[in-house]
Amino acid sequence: MDSADEQLPELPGDAFRKQDTADDAEFYAPARLVTHIDEAATEALTAYYRTVLPPGGVVLDLMSSWVSHLPEEVDFAEVIGHGMNAAELRANPRLTRSFVQNLNQAQVLPLATGSCDAALCCVGVQYLQRPVDVFTGVRRVLRPGAPCIVSFSNRCFPTKAVAIWRSLGEEGHAALVRLYLERAGFAEVSAKALQDGRRSDPLVVVTGRS
Ligand SMILES: C[S@@+](CC[C@H](N)C(=O)[O-])C[C@H]1O[C@@H](n2cnc3c(N)ncnc32)[C@H](O)[C@@H]1O
Repeated sequence: MDSADEQLPELPGDAFRKQDTADDAEFYAPARLVTHIDEAATEALTAYYRTVLPPGGVVLDLMSSWVSHLPEEVDFAEVIGHGMNAAELRANPRLTRSFVQNLNQAQVLPLATGSCDAALCCVGVQYLQRPVDVFTGVRRVLRPGAPCIVSFSNRCFPTKAVAIWRSLGEEGHAALVRLYLERAGFAEVSAKALQDGRRSDPLVVVTGRS
């Protein structure tokens, strides 16, 4: 895809271009049982989840893998994982069920309207070519007032990140993700740096409420 999302007309025409234009399924075919952010950044994210996620609720972990960074001591009714690699999702001990879907090809989620109490998207947002459609879909499956928590660092697979992401720094990334969530209809959208990057990977969360 080379043209900008029509729901984000303020962005340049090549905003969602990727260097690697092959089907994402090829890139994600080998299971990567690795961590994408360091331990301090992970711990900061888990601590944040502890303050925001409703114990006992249904959590959707979008763009997941073999780790969800959820607080170990908190039980959830369900943790639904979504990703690109079934083996990675099977290896994730927190998931109660999962599905594989290429969000750059199909944005409608196979989940009932208003069925989730929270949605997470950790270090994946930079790969989305239809972010407003994706997050509009996430808002549909959330119950009113439920949080959508999008987190990111300064690392990525550069050939798979969209051009606008590669052209921006950390503040620009936060503004971009805020724009995605606001344009998707989320309320109370705010950004917060959980790690400033001096002693660990930087980690920023952008949270909105459905
Ligand atoms: C860097 S990994 C992050 C995995 C996990 N959230 C974590 O915190 O370790 C990026 C993830 O984005 C997801 N992803 C990338 N491209 C995608 C696409 N086109 N459609 C759906 N998911 C995609 C895959 O699930 C991949 O595992």
